[in-house]
This record gives sequence, C-alpha cells and structure tokens, in this order.
Amino acid sequence: MGKQKATIRTFKEMKQKGKKITMVTAYDYAMMSWVDKSDIDLILVGDSAAMTMLGYKSTVPIDLDTMLVFNQAVSRAGEHTFLVGDMPFMSYEVSTEKAVENAGRIMKEGFMDAVKLEGGERMAETVAAIVRAGIPVMGHIGLTPQSASQLGGFTVQGKDFTSAKQIFKDALALEEAGAFAILMEAIPAPLAKLITEKVQVPTIGIGAGPYCDGQVLVIHDLLGLFDRFVPKFVKQYAKLGEEIQKALNTFAAEVRGGAFPAADHCFNMQEEVVQQLTAALQEEGLL
Ligand code: KIV
Repeated sequence: MGKQKATIRTFKEMKQKGKKITMVTAYDYAMMSWVDKSDIDLILVGDSAAMTMLGYKSTVPIDLDTMLVFNQAVSRAGEHTFLVGDMPFMSYEVSTEKAVENAGRIMKEGFMDAVKLEGGERMAETVAAIVRAGIPVMGHIGLTPQSASQLGGFTVQGKDFTSAKQIFKDALALEEAGAFAILMEAIPAPLAKLITEKVQVPTIGIGAGPYCDGQVLVIHDLLGLFDRFVPKFVKQYAKLGEEIQKALNTFAAEVRGGAFPAADHCFNMQEEVVQQLTAALQEEGLL
C-alpha cells in the first residue's frame, strides 16, 4: 500500500506518540515525484528556492509570483505528501490584510495545504489572522534567514540567556496564535528540548538538535546537490552532484568516441525506402 497523506492532526498525534516527523524541501515536479514515493511526511516549498534553484545569495530576493510557480510544479507531483508553501520576504510583513490575502494565494493558486512564515512574538497577530481565515500556519523561529542581516548573518541564535528566553517566548506566542507546528532553525539543542517539551504542537528542527518532534533538511543539502556551502547541521545522505557530473562526462566521452547513440537508441527505415529516397533525391539534383 502506498503512503497515506498526513494532515495537521496526524502531526499532533505523531508528537503525542513520540513518532518522529520527517520533512524536506521540494521545488520542482521531477524531484517532488521522487519525494512523493518516499517515506517523507511533509514537504516545504521553501524560499530557499531563491538560493538552490535561482542562485541568489540569500532568500530575500524571491517574490510571491515566483514562489507560486514552484508551488504549482510541486503540487502536480505531491499527491500523497502534505505540502507547505513558504511565504517570501515582504509578502506578510506590510499588513495583516496583505498577509491573509497572500497566504490565500498560496493555497488557491499554489495548491498548498498550509503556509509557513518567519517570526515569533512579533508575527503572532499575523499568524492568528491567517489561521482565522482557515489556513494552517507553520511558524519559524531561531535563525530566520529573511532577517539574517538584522540577526548578524546566518548564525546560531539563542545561545545567551536573553535571546534564548525570547526564542522560548516566540514558541509560546506561535502556539497561542494557533500555529499547527513550529520550525526551529539553528538554536542550541537544550533550548529546542525545553520548547519541545513545553508546547503541544510539533516542533521541527533544522540545526536544533535531536529533541525536536521532527527534522527538516533542504533537499539539495541532503542529496549533495548544492556545493556553494554546506552548513554544520547538514548531513549529506548522497552525493548526487558528483553522480551527475560523472554521468555528464560519460555522455560527452561516448558522443565524442562514437559509442552513443548505439543501435538500440536509433529509429530504422526499410532499406528499399532508403534506396527509393536516394534515387529520387539524386534525380531531382538534391543529392
Ligand atoms: O526555505 C527553507 O528551505 C527553510 C528551511 C529552514 C527548511 O525555511
């Protein structure tokens, strides 16, 4: 039997039963069709697409219309996987009304099952408004890449008493606002443990240690497809970039050496048709 699509209730039950939740990012149809056949519980069409798919240096430049293209591609292959669409920078900060409207576009035009946005206490009212509109929201606290400039770069957050306490309060505020899950990025494992034990909603960690209710990785990092940098918290489960390079070099060598295409890759024609065609072309002076 194939996998059954999870719901937000499934994730809560998984937390209660101590069953770990697994999540990766996905951005396109081909990759999503493999993810959909895997044991992964949910995916995020992350704004990390700005870096992994479009080559920007941060997640800031990507806009909602571009994200919707990735959402739609993923949704066409994501039949058995819960789909979360990231809200890009400036699609939810300007006003609560705009945030609800844009979250609605991600659901209606992007065919996602939920949205994710960055920020804790400061975004709680926005999260509550989107939830009131009937849209499930995943929060994102700790290192929030859209505000990396303000945070002093892509660095671990919550190492000192004051910032750790703020992150703890951020988690409480998101739970209170109705978030169905909280993604925690680059925070110390003991802080993630305190939060996970306190809140009733599942926590999903990336660089947040083993005590979270689930784990997420950017799929390009997990598969070894992104070589600009590899964060400390990433484990590469494959080196597909190297495999791709090997396959491309073999193709180039076989084309140059005449081994490709072989007979198996060619369409044939009856010999008498070839002769007839040659004779006709010669008669017309075309050969
Ligand atoms: O956009 C993204 O890929 C993320 C990661 C933290 C999973 O938000």
